Amino acid sequence: MPGLVIIGAQWGDEGKGKVTDLLAERADTIVRFQGGNNAGHTIVRDGQTWKLHLMPSGILHPKKLCVIGNGVVIDPKVLTDELDELRRRGVDTSGLRISANAHLIMPYHMLLDHAGEIKLGKLNIGTTRRGIGPCYADKAARLGIRVQDLLDEKILKKKIVAALEPKRLMLRSYQRSEELDLQTMTQEYLTYGHRLKRYIADTSKLVCDRLDRDELVLFEGAQGTLLDIDHGTYPFVTSSNPIAGSATIGAGVGPKDIDEVWGIAKAYSTRVGAGPFPTELEGPIADELREKGHEYGTTTGRERRVGWLDLVALRYAARINSLTAIALTKLDVLSGQERILVGTAYRGPEDSEFEHFPYHQTVLHHAVGQYESLPGWDEDITGARSEADLPPEARDYLRFIEEFVKVPIALVGVGPGRDEVIWTKAGVGMHGSALTAA
Ligand code: GDP
Ligand code: IMO
Ligand code: MG
Repeated sequence: MPGLVIIGAQWGDEGKGKVTDLLAERADTIVRFQGGNNAGHTIVRDGQTWKLHLMPSGILHPKKLCVIGNGVVIDPKVLTDELDELRRRGVDTSGLRISANAHLIMPYHMLLDHAGEIKLGKLNIGTTRRGIGPCYADKAARLGIRVQDLLDEKILKKKIVAALEPKRLMLRSYQRSEELDLQTMTQEYLTYGHRLKRYIADTSKLVCDRLDRDELVLFEGAQGTLLDIDHGTYPFVTSSNPIAGSATIGAGVGPKDIDEVWGIAKAYSTRVGAGPFPTELEGPIADELREKGHEYGTTTGRERRVGWLDLVALRYAARINSLTAIALTKLDVLSGQERILVGTAYRGPEDSEFEHFPYHQTVLHHAVGQYESLPGWDEDITGARSEADLPPEARDYLRFIEEFVKVPIALVGVGPGRDEVIWTKAGVGMHGSALTAA
């Protein structure tokens, strides 16, 4: 105790990196617990931008314990490149620890991800093609290669052979490619092992020891609730569980170690890749929000789809994650809209109406947002540092969300920079805020 989980409450890219970096100021430990380098977490500090894919968003704070937990899938090339880049920019990375049990993304996972998407054609998921799905599939099939395997050539080779065997057919068009040569692959991964050895540890024990000492531990999620493989818009999801419950499994702590769950949500919605998006916008407002909010993927550079805030989905996220607080980011991007729409229900097939997130895929695919229209504001709010600095319409927008979702908003983002935030009355007194405000 105390453990605070930070998760995406929408379709990813809500600003988890920024909030984690902010709360990390007073935390001792920051743990990534799922996903891989499909994630792109942006931190803007002192005019400098950092884009992290695998590294926990606490790494910019010197001497914090930054853990990549067992639930993460690691592409060791991306990780070593990220380490090099951080060091080049003067960041002390000595606090990093990597779970020996985390699974590794192998060259064939990327090829399979790519081939799978091509095969699906029009029905493709729009994955990041980073090999995430095939890597988690191998984990479940017990054919995965883990971080600890990098330290033993004989075991590593044996496991690669076993993992490749059932994939021969799918990979036959790549059979001559050098990446898949057993010897080359083994040597390449042994080299990564050599480089990463000093960081490999029993991270579950490290994190539990910190919790036992009553130090604040942040669990940093990747992706978002609606991309959850069990609770999201399947099959248009990622291959892990980005929800709060997953923090225990992916970090190796117990459910009682979690005290607070913060859901990060944008003041509107975005989604990258295919799949249902009931409040999606097209046309000039979408273009305006995309440009103002720089809604282009951190990892793939793809244009993000844009929509109004979906309170049906957010209330669902509050339930699935037991949210204790919401951090609402990018409120500044809504400035200048005459009216702001918020999705409060869905219309489904045959004029049916849904107030709750529907479980049925056909209903969900046809769901169209039903809206309340709220008055907007014109003022630039990037300089606001307290609720009192906000125009009344912006305050009313916050209250509307809180009342609908029944979760207090603790923090409001009014710009990308780490200082461009407002702690609300509700937020002051919560773990993170009490500590950061201290
Ligand atoms: P993550 O994946 O959840 O960490 O989010 P991303 O980093 O992919 O995307 C969020 C983007 O919004 C980043 O470019 C952030 O710098 C930016 N951002 C975060 N909070 C705010 C905010 O309150 N206002 C504005 N304008 N930008 C923000
Ligand atoms: P962060 O942590 C937004 C999406 C992909 C695709 C689907 C499956 O930055 O919020 P995958 O490569 O995971 O198999 O792709 O999930 N996706 C994300 N969308 N933010 C992310 O991460 C995402 N990670 C995966 O676009 O639709
Ligand atoms: Mg992102």
